[in-house]
Amino acid sequence: MPDEYAIVLEDISKTFRNASRPSVYPTDLKIKKGEFVTILGASGCGKTTLLKMINRLYEPSGGRLLVNGEDVTKISATLLRRKIGYVIQQTGLFQHMTIEQNVATVPKILGWDKQRINKRIDNLLNLVGLKPQEFRKRYPRQLSGGQQQRVGLARAMAADPSIMLMDEPFGAIDAITRSNLQDEMIKIQKKLGKTILFVTHDISEALKLGDRVIIMNEGRIQQYDEPLTILRSPANAFVRSLMNSDDILQRLTFITAGEVMEPASSETGDGPAVSPTDDLRTALTALLRSPDGLVSVKDENGQAVGRLSLALLNRFCLEATK
Ligand SMILES: Nc1ncnc2c1ncn2[C@@H]1O[C@H](COP(=O)(O)OP(=O)(O)OP(=O)(O)O)[C@@H](O)[C@H]1O
Ligand SMILES: [Mg+2]
Repeated sequence: MPDEYAIVLEDISKTFRNASRPSVYPTDLKIKKGEFVTILGASGCGKTTLLKMINRLYEPSGGRLLVNGEDVTKISATLLRRKIGYVIQQTGLFQHMTIEQNVATVPKILGWDKQRINKRIDNLLNLVGLKPQEFRKRYPRQLSGGQQQRVGLARAMAADPSIMLMDEPFGAIDAITRSNLQDEMIKIQKKLGKTILFVTHDISEALKLGDRVIIMNEGRIQQYDEPLTILRSPANAFVRSLMNSDDILQRLTFITAGEVMEPASSETGDGPAVSPTDDLRTALTALLRSPDGLVSVKDENGQAVGRLSLALLNRFCLEATK
């Protein structure tokens, strides 16, 4: 049976030389194939260190690392890195190389023919929203910060790795482009079945993108759960206060009506309705407009599958912010 997990960390830790404490304490972590996992935490909590141990840019101080079921602590780090796409925090583009040369780095090492590489460059630049004819021959310094980040993303995807490590890849990108790229990322990941580990400072981004979210603080994982579980049942005071620092209306956009609805009552008639996949902010708008404070949840055939009330939403928010 093929291994269910893309990445397994067993007791992995990192203490830098002369450091007074580990940057990452001994950590166990399992990431399923095809899962989109986000890592959320304050500056200096060990996110980048954790990521860099997975492609062995940093050698762990202890523990075992399995990638696709194989213990990779003993194989060549270079070989490992070719299998794992990596988008680094400060884009890390090769400044003396053009955009097309940057994107072609790994395919070239892998010995792809020219035609295949050329086609791939065009596809990838289009995918990240940079017109190939305009950008291929430019150098990184001739691009804005956000454009450079998009090239970094294209470069990491060039050889179609099954695992992608992404360290704040959208940090320098404006809100609108960022939101588009986030949607694009979700599509790419679902379509190509990639396993993604994605670091961010941004609570909304972590909750929107992650099938599951890792919350880190001071070198330790505080919670590793689905977004809804983190919102509903924060594991400790740290996670609770982190979640409470976020805008509650914003948070409602990460939860769907289907996830919190009550069973449908028999008398659901022609009143306002939302679909199970609508988010709770949409549902709240409908509830505020509903004369009786009720909204039914109907599937695509118009069949009532549940209902929402203002009281239910209120209970949900109170529970999540306790
Ligand atoms: N090469 C290194 N040598 C020594 N200490 C390091 C090294 N890299 C990171 N550290 C220390 O390890 C801790 C975790 O750093 P890390 O880069 O993993 O944080 P981070 O969570 O990615 O932060 P940010 O959000 O600011 O990128 C910090 O205290 C940092 O100073
Ligand atoms: Mg970092």
